[in-house]
Amino acid sequence: MRLVVWKNEDEVAEAAAKLLSLSLQKRPSLVLGLAAGRTPLKLYQRLVHLYQKGKIDLSRATFFGLDEFWGLAADHPLSFAHYFEENLFGLLRINRSKVFLLDGKAKDIESHCHWYEKMIAACGGLDIQLLGIGLNGHIGFNEPGSSFTSRTRLVRLTAETIASQKPSFHQLGMKPPQLALTMGIATILKAKNILLLATGKTKATIIRRALEGPITPDVPASCLQGHPSVYIFLDEASSRGLTRKDFFQKGKNSNLETFEWPGE
Ligand code: F6R
Repeated sequence: MRLVVWKNEDEVAEAAAKLLSLSLQKRPSLVLGLAAGRTPLKLYQRLVHLYQKGKIDLSRATFFGLDEFWGLAADHPLSFAHYFEENLFGLLRINRSKVFLLDGKAKDIESHCHWYEKMIAACGGLDIQLLGIGLNGHIGFNEPGSSFTSRTRLVRLTAETIASQKPSFHQLGMKPPQLALTMGIATILKAKNILLLATGKTKATIIRRALEGPITPDVPASCLQGHPSVYIFLDEASSRGLTRKDFFQKGKNSNLETFEWPGE
């Protein structure tokens, strides 16, 4: 696990964008798993900016969404499909036939989840899975207690996760969804490389538990400790709880050009 602490969320986004663009240069047909949520927004803005300046080309890349609220159609303003459209796909040139998203309205859940796993495998597996982390340690919507052998499936969201979604759904006069589709922990761990981003002081406690605590389904993100190729990019605020300072590198001392994903 390579842990890099950057000064603030702008630096985290900048570094993540650089890592992804270097990866795209090496492998233009990158298979990229994408997270939604607040954390990667600035990264997506930077990718769009790099695209506008002609510095990156995503037209040969393949995309898989990490999760989706159950019951929301792709055009619902709070669906993750809509989020990706608004923040990424609609703003740059991509190959639409290479975008795979979980369908919150799928008729046959089991076969839809099976199809998703099959498509990931058919594309050669995820080269890089981008992750955020929930306050309870969830990755994707794998809530505490999720099995490390879990695959793409329908899950029940915890009260905490539902509460965190309340403000945005209330604005539309809706109750937040109770269920979601998500890649499983085993699906995520099968990615060749993982890039987890966390920013802000509210994430400090869970970052410490996930990175320095025991590997346990109680803290789903702790499973990443066992993955052979993980980058964790934090800002100073989210790294404050870490005690083993020797295990991480300050962003200013790290040269992203020399970063190599294993298996290259
Ligand atoms: C989003 C996802 C979630 C978020 C997590 C953090 O696709 O899978 O696990 O990454 O809830 O959300 P933010 O970034 O909004 O704090």
